[in-house]
Amino acid sequence: MIKIKVLRSAPGVTPFFQTFDYEPEPEDTVATALTRLNATEDLTDETGAPATPIAWECSCLQKKCGACAMIINGRPRLACDARLSELGKRITLKPLGKFPVVKDLIVDREILRANLKTLNLWLSKDAQLPEKKTDLAYTAGRCLQCGCCLEVCPNFYPGGTFFGTSVVPVTTRVLTETDKESRSAIAKAYDKHYYEGCGKSLACVNVCPIGRDVQKLLVNSNAMAIWKRK
Ligand code: FES
Repeated sequence: MIKIKVLRSAPGVTPFFQTFDYEPEPEDTVATALTRLNATEDLTDETGAPATPIAWECSCLQKKCGACAMIINGRPRLACDARLSELGKRITLKPLGKFPVVKDLIVDREILRANLKTLNLWLSKDAQLPEKKTDLAYTAGRCLQCGCCLEVCPNFYPGGTFFGTSVVPVTTRVLTETDKESRSAIAKAYDKHYYEGCGKSLACVNVCPIGRDVQKLLVNSNAMAIWKRK
């Protein structure tokens, strides 16, 4: 039996911790545990007090959508990728701390979408990608926008000018944009919203839940958007 301690919160309610007893199966992840706890009829906490289902988000359950990002034992991770067997007998779950909490483990990450819109990262016509850059663009495009890297970034806060490593998809956009003016506009936005604000702490480098080489992507984005222009 393990203990799963969850930070519970909802609009108008002072956040509080609630702990649940859970009997894990060998392959269980945090996502499995939350699903099974919520499927329990008359869910109770460790004291036997009635508890409401734990609010959390998921979609793919295969490390592909980023919806289930949360703080697991102090580290930002994907719940569907966090095996209980690696986490010990006491597990603490909290929502990501850089975004407004909607309820329990659900946060509102709309600011990430808004930031990408500001950077104009949407293709408006067919892309042309040089073949030797395909791997780089593919890796950049795999960003889940989960927010894990922003959680550990000392410079990012929602609503600030600095957009943090969520700008990594800019690499794809700069690589594929053929129009010189549009390319220049993207590069300028990147300069303002990433390059000028990054303190080079590189705290983000080892946090990406899908293991992308964030440092390499940022070096390439810097090279294409800033250094080559200067
Ligand atoms: S549910 Fe999609 S990444 Fe975890």
